[in-house]
Amino acid sequence: MAPAREGGLARRLLSLQGLFALLSGGVPREGAGARTSGAGCHSTEHPVFSYSEIEPWIHRFSEEDTVDYSQLTFDPGQSELIVGTSSVPHLPSSLLSPFSHFVPCFITVPLQAVDWHCDDFTKAACFSRGKSEEECQNYVRVLLVNGDRLFTCGTNAFTPICTNRTLSNLTLVHDQISGMARCPYSPLHNSTALLTASGELYAATAMDFSGRDPAIYRSLGALPPLRTAQYNSKWLNEPNFVSSYDIGNFTYFFFRENAVEHDCGRTVFSRAARVCKNDVGGRFLLEDTWTTFMKARLNCSRPGDIPFYYHELQGTFYLPKLQLLYAVFTTNVNSIAASAVCVFNLSAITQVFNGPFKYQENSRSAWLPYPNPNPDFQCGTIDYGSNVNLTERSLQDAQKFILMQDVVQPLGPRPTFTEDNVRFTHLVVDVVQGKNRLFHIIYLATDYGTIRKVLSPLNQSTGSCLLDEIELFPPGRRQPIRSLLLQHGRSVLFVGVQDQVIRVPLVRCGFHRTREACLGARDPYCGWDLGLRRCTALEESLSMKQWEQNIRECPVSAALRLALAG
Ligand SMILES: *[C@@H]1O[C@H](CO)[C@@H](O)[C@H](O)[C@H]1NC(C)=O
Ligand SMILES: *[C@@H]1O[C@H](CO)[C@@H](O)[C@H](O)[C@H]1NC(C)=O
Ligand SMILES: *[C@@H]1O[C@H](CO)[C@@H](O)[C@H](O)[C@H]1NC(C)=O
Ligand SMILES: *[C@@H]1O[C@H](CO)[C@@H](O)[C@H](O)[C@H]1NC(C)=O
Ligand SMILES: *[C@@H]1O[C@H](CO)[C@@H](O)[C@H](O)[C@H]1NC(C)=O
Ligand SMILES: *[C@@H]1O[C@H](CO)[C@@H](O)[C@H](O)[C@H]1NC(C)=O
Ligand SMILES: *[C@@H]1O[C@H](CO)[C@@H](O)[C@H](O)[C@H]1NC(C)=O
Ligand SMILES: *[C@@H]1O[C@H](CO)[C@@H](O)[C@H](O)[C@H]1NC(C)=O
Repeated sequence: MAPAREGGLARRLLSLQGLFALLSGGVPREGAGARTSGAGCHSTEHPVFSYSEIEPWIHRFSEEDTVDYSQLTFDPGQSELIVGTSSVPHLPSSLLSPFSHFVPCFITVPLQAVDWHCDDFTKAACFSRGKSEEECQNYVRVLLVNGDRLFTCGTNAFTPICTNRTLSNLTLVHDQISGMARCPYSPLHNSTALLTASGELYAATAMDFSGRDPAIYRSLGALPPLRTAQYNSKWLNEPNFVSSYDIGNFTYFFFRENAVEHDCGRTVFSRAARVCKNDVGGRFLLEDTWTTFMKARLNCSRPGDIPFYYHELQGTFYLPKLQLLYAVFTTNVNSIAASAVCVFNLSAITQVFNGPFKYQENSRSAWLPYPNPNPDFQCGTIDYGSNVNLTERSLQDAQKFILMQDVVQPLGPRPTFTEDNVRFTHLVVDVVQGKNRLFHIIYLATDYGTIRKVLSPLNQSTGSCLLDEIELFPPGRRQPIRSLLLQHGRSVLFVGVQDQVIRVPLVRCGFHRTREACLGARDPYCGWDLGLRRCTALEESLSMKQWEQNIRECPVSAALRLALAG
């Protein structure tokens, strides 16, 4: 009962080659979408680029019967975009039993499209456990490139599996292993994973069918598999994992979870957690369990007599050279919508991990600060006899002390950017060379399919500016953004949504037709070329001397908008 797959595959290959062509360039038609700034027309200053204005600049990629463009990554040379998706569930018609109806599940890449099937048996088992046609598909949730290998895991109808493939020929599957503890069972569960240079996979995910057993789990590679303690709410308490990074001697995990230390009512806090990469677990105590797991609360709030907290971490972006983590937070879904961006210095996070712990003797006692027995812990090891070197931390302490007393505070007393009545879902940050300095541009995805472009504060005494907002969908067809991937070298942003990937060029200086409009946009990518008499990118200009840029304050209307937004 399989649909005509040959034809489907050919169609996919065609569209993907289209995408590849777009990857290597693609400038919109001359004059398309250009903004005029004649008398009485204020569109130049208006920070919203409507769907019809942006459409000529962007490229869309979608395929029939494909949904959930939520996993995006690049090959090592960044010349190919790799997209993990799922197939559209076809509602079983009365003539077909759900068991015989077969829809291929697949992942796609430019120039290649690979079907990744859930087999009929697995789907049947999924249905028999009460899951829907929609849930019993293969949703790609791990997509990691490692040299010429693509390591990828999918939910596979609530029976997660992982495969190791050759990047240049994705049909070549080298290993197929269980996805348990590497990939969630349910497509709705949030997870994160990374591969280290030495080949260990660190995954933070739900480990079971019901999603009640979350863990940060290490497997593969040469080191022993380890996890966070099972069913222990002091380690993890209904977490939603957001991101993970391999930094120095540690792997870091960012997530939100129910605050175990907060005793009046249910509150979600955002966390940074870390483990040592050389952790080998305990002996007798904490066997197969991390001995270096610690976590700390992240604070992103508006100061005041009673600070206003943005409790729930949604997305992060790490700038390794500066060791800065940009993070976007929102309020709880049940309260008024509001979002904020806070920036954390890795050194502030490290400092909190070197400080005191917060400790609760038993479930009825109060949480109290407790001095850190190993301040400045750097993952050193000690000889434990019988050929094992455990990390230099008492196992009793490792079991007792999980949560840090101090809270990680962001740069500056107030968030880098805030906006009310909107929920941001993801962010990426581009570092842009302007005329006299580097600028950080924050791209924020909304839950209704638009992207805000925000200029990070120029210095401690200025605020951030909302430069513009682009609408990726026409009114009435808006949908939440599922993923963002920045290609810094080519100044391109890829946006994944339910039914397509969108390629957005970040340099759009041609929008601004006059010098006034060009400089007034305060866009770090653009300047007025006095020789060419055009608004251009720095690279296009004839000479730096002839290229004007004037970024000292926010554009007028954007500043106004911020003031109105409070
Ligand atoms: C994938 O295959 C490569 C080459 O055989 C191997 O080195 C690597 O460990 C495998 N990775 C995983 C995660 O299985
Ligand atoms: C990819 O691998 C498959 C399976 O080994 C092989 O049949 C096919 O020819 C390969 N494709 C290319 C383009 O090398
Ligand atoms: C996963 O995260 C998204 C975005 O924050 C949220 O809407 C969703 O409810 C989360 N999933 C679960 C199972 O909590
Ligand atoms: C979080 O930051 C706000 C604003 O700076 C501050 O008022 C508040 O005390 C901080 N909260 C915690 C728990 O550190
Ligand atoms: C981050 O912390 C380091 C070390 O304390 C410091 O040198 C650096 O200036 C900080 N970065 C910012 C942006 O504050
Ligand atoms: C990593 O840990 C080792 C000890 O195991 C320590 O000597 C080294 O300084 C640490 N590296 C960093 C970057 O902190
Ligand atoms: C344990 O550490 C000692 C010295 O610190 C070293 O000589 C020994 O090789 C290590 N053993 C293992 C199994 O790593
Ligand atoms: C911050 O930037 C503003 C605008 O460019 C400038 O007037 C001010 O002097 C700067 N402050 C510092 C501390 O550099």
